[in-house]
Parts: sequence; structure tokens; C-alpha cells
Amino acid sequence: MSEYQSGMAAALEKSNARSRRAKKIVLGSVVALVVIVALAVGLGVGLSRNKSSSSSSSGSSGASNPESDSSVGDDPSNFEKDDRLHQSFYGIAYTPEGSIMPDCGAKLEDVIKDIQLMSQLTKRVRLYGADCNQSALVLEAIQQTKVDMQVYLANYDVPGDSDAYTRQRDALKEAIQTYGTDHIAGVTVGNEYILNYLNDNGGTDPNDAIGNAGGKLLIADIDDTKQMLSDLGVDLPVGNSDAGSYFNNEVLENVDYGMSNVHAWFANTTADDAADWVFSFFEETNVEPASELSNSPQMYIAETGWPTKSSDAANANNGASDASEANLQIFIDDFVCQANSNNIGYFFFEFFDEEWKDAQYGGVEGWWGLFTADRQLKDLTIPDCAAP
Ligand SMILES: *[C@@H]1O[C@H](CO)[C@@H](O)[C@H](O)[C@H]1NC(C)=O
Ligand SMILES: *[C@@H]1O[C@H](CO)[C@@H](O)[C@H](O)[C@H]1NC(C)=O
Repeated sequence: MSEYQSGMAAALEKSNARSRRAKKIVLGSVVALVVIVALAVGLGVGLSRNKSSSSSSSGSSGASNPESDSSVGDDPSNFEKDDRLHQSFYGIAYTPEGSIMPDCGAKLEDVIKDIQLMSQLTKRVRLYGADCNQSALVLEAIQQTKVDMQVYLANYDVPGDSDAYTRQRDALKEAIQTYGTDHIAGVTVGNEYILNYLNDNGGTDPNDAIGNAGGKLLIADIDDTKQMLSDLGVDLPVGNSDAGSYFNNEVLENVDYGMSNVHAWFANTTADDAADWVFSFFEETNVEPASELSNSPQMYIAETGWPTKSSDAANANNGASDASEANLQIFIDDFVCQANSNNIGYFFFEFFDEEWKDAQYGGVEGWWGLFTADRQLKDLTIPDCAAP
């Protein structure tokens, strides 16, 4: 969590400088700051050891979950729709349960259930990494459910851990060989890589000498991923994701898209101001600068959302508003349809609460889901406006 603090301070300074430079109108006291919902998709070894649902073709295991209330019979493509859900989200950020090393344990039946639910909210999901067989599980689930869904696969590339990079690259390669590219929208290499690199090496600005040194390491992996794809004969966009104020320009010049974490919660805005804050931050800090680069990479909001609770009292309020379902509802109401009509590509953060994250980081970290960890919709009204 200390990364948070230093990341935020640096982001604050950086974005203040940027708005001075851009002479933007009254962001006034609005603190442009970044956010790091650290998705520390971890390190370690091995693939899922839980084989409880590996028989993807027999159909006999699909209905074995007694809690399952969304599958009808054994055919995952024949599932009950929840009339509270609408396809109004551009995209959703998703980490399958059991896809963190070294524990892993992700199960196909769970991923199928998640895809059944998410497909009623969106046509796009983004992953953060490729450990624990998550790329194959998601693609298998899309295949079995036959839903209209594109996935941004990812390699959670960590500075200084080339084994993690290589392991995930090989998993991505295998998944692409098995499933083809029909349901793959892109491959994202690195998540908060530059933020972490700066923190590890005493840097503050993603485009200073330290930031550029980190950028060179990341670009080598991006190039390697492009080579892997080209060796397979497939043509897929390759991107990068980072905290909103931490994009290195040389990295952006080497990718097709950038995905930026933009969290009003950590900027201490009120829930009422949150959506406007996100739109302003993203436009000024990501979209405009990227449009000035030679390759004009497409920018997306990689994560935005609002937490619904905190595990400790100290983080239950960000200084301006509470972590609560009522405030998540306000943010959803203000953000989702407006972003859709403005053609902003975003991945709502996130599908469901993550217990591992709460255990590891505490505070609000584990409580950003639209759904609870056991896949129940929180007390939310999903807007009904078509996503682009
Ligand atoms: C990965 O998931 C796919 C799809 O469910 C499955 O066919 C494959 O056996 C899994 N691999 C491992 C090592 O678990
Ligand atoms: C946001 O509020 C927290 C808690 O009061 C504080 O620690 C942090 O410095 C604030 N951040 C900003 C950018 O104002």
C-alpha cells in the first residue's frame, strides 16, 4: 500500500503540472491523481491443480454446482437471463477467481457462470494476466456459452521477473493456438509496470530517465509478444495498461492501445463529482497526450468504479464520500450512459469482489464488485442504455 501513497503524490504533482501546461479550465481544486488499484496478479508456479471441471466437452460437470441458478440443464449456452441486467457497459474488468499464483485453482464451471453473467452486461472483458490457465478458461467459457464476447487477454509483466513474462507469453500462445482469435480483441502487456518500475527505482516521472529505462524493458517484452503473434500468423492489437499518470511515451509509441486506470475515489472526489472527474482526467492526461504521439494509440479507461465498503473504518470514507453501494449507484448513473454516448471505451472495475485482494491489501481493495464474491448482484440498478 505504500506504493499507493507515493504513486498518488507523484501523480498529483505530475497532473498539476500538466494542467498548468495545458492551461485547462477550472479543474480548480480538483486533484488529478492516479490510481492504483493494485491488481497484484502474482508470481509463482504452475497451473491449476484443480481439475474438478476439466471435462469441458462432456457437459456432465457443468451443472454440478448446487448453487448454480443461472444454468439450465447441462448446456452452458442455455442459461436463464436476469432481467435486472442490461448490456450497457462498454467493458468489464475481470480476474477469474483462483487465478492468482501460487494458489490458482480457477475452475471452468465458475468462469462459465461469470461469463454468463457478464455477457448480460457487456460484450467485452479485460483480463490482467495469463497465469493459472485463465486465458484458456475464459475462451473455453465463451465457446461453451456461445455468447457475443470479446476478451482482451493480458500478460501481467513484472519488472525484474522475466520468468513470469515468459510463462504467461507461452500460456497466451497456447490459448491462441487452441481457440483462435475470433473472441480475442487484443493482448495487453504490462499492468502498472512503469508505476512499479518508478517506485522500485526512485523515479517519479514516467518520462524521465528512469521512466525511459523501465519503458525500454517493457518495450522489449511488447516486441517479443508481437513476434510471438506474428510467428503464429495472427494479427491482434497489442497494448499496455498503467495507472493514469504513468504512461511512458515510448511505450505508447510501441503499442496499438493504452489502458488507463482512472479512479475518482483515490482522488478524494465526492461520489457526485466522480464521473466528471474521471472524464476530465482521462481526456487531459491520456487522450490528448496520446493523440499527439506519432502512432496515436487508442486510449481506454482500464479501470473505473467506486468501492462499496472498506474492511477498516479508516478507509470507509475518502475524505469526501463513503465507500457504499449507494455511492456506487451514483457513479454508475452518472458515468455509464454518458461514457457510452461520448464513445469512451472503458472497463468498469469490476465484475465481483475479490477476497484474495481484501486479504492481501485490506481497506477498500477487495470491494469494488458489481457482484459480491459469491456472484450476487449488489443492491444496484443497472442502467439501460446500449453500450457502443
Ligand atoms: C486449461 O483450460 C482449458 C479449458 O478449460 C482446458 O481444456 C485445459 O485442460 C486447461 N489446462 C490446464 C493445464 O488445466
Ligand atoms: C485523500 O484523503 C486521504 C485520507 O484523508 C489522505 O490521506 C490523502 O492524502 C488524500 N489525498 C489527496 C490527494 O488529497
